[in-house]
Amino acid sequence: MSGEIDVEGVVRRYGDATVLHGVSLTVEAGAFAALVGPSGSGKTTLLNLIGGLDRPDAGRIVVDGLAVSDLGADARATYRRDRVGFIFQTFNLIDVLSAQENVELPLALLGVPPRRRAERAAAMLAEVGLADHARKLPTQMSGGQQQRVAVARALVKNPALVLGDEPTANLDAATGVALMDMLAALNERRGTTLVIATHDPRMVERTRVAYTLSDGRLVSS
Ligand SMILES: Nc1ncnc2c1ncn2[C@@H]1O[C@H](COP(=O)(O)OP(=O)(O)OP(=O)(O)O)[C@@H](O)[C@H]1O
Ligand SMILES: [Mg+2]
Repeated sequence: MSGEIDVEGVVRRYGDATVLHGVSLTVEAGAFAALVGPSGSGKTTLLNLIGGLDRPDAGRIVVDGLAVSDLGADARATYRRDRVGFIFQTFNLIDVLSAQENVELPLALLGVPPRRRAERAAAMLAEVGLADHARKLPTQMSGGQQQRVAVARALVKNPALVLGDEPTANLDAATGVALMDMLAALNERRGTTLVIATHDPRMVERTRVAYTLSDGRLVSS
């Protein structure tokens, strides 16, 4: 479980439009990396490919020696379940489940027994500063608190890799900065590889490496 990502000549087309033109990059295991670039440059497309939500039309993506780009749908679902945590712009928590239950969910999918998963979810919620909010529903929490639940949900299974698609876009500036600081601390403490797509320069400052996409091409790193 280390989270090294190798992207080699990845091409993605939608109909006639080529949205990734042979992107190659390497993210070291344990990195805290930003993926930046203007709207439409291909950030979400690339994250979805790395996370096994989608497949490239050409090129390869290898995560810890596993050629994710060559996997069929079932194997990609297993890859996502076992190795990847996702954090989304709109939090995507399940409204009818408490914070605790939301964080337990990935462990339930992995077959972790109930008592063990309750303990691990509670510890993870404490790690993101929400020990006192475990019983609340998402609608009873602020946006920043909801996003911290989403971070806890992404990290609770100790994935090799956590991918965030503009996780601070729906937070005010101070809350966004606090979330990025928390992600930086989690990256440091656990060594989880984090790749975060963002528009916000204050977020990029907090990462250790930045890859810039422009019109589906990597222009700097
Ligand atoms: N399912 C799809 N079908 C057709 N075109 C798509 C699809 N998904 C993305 N695109 C196109 O691919 C290009 C890259 O989109 P992508 O969502 O990766 O950009 P982005 O960098 O994440 O932008 P933003 O910062 O606005 O989120 C855009 O031109 C977009 O219109
Ligand atoms: Mg996007």
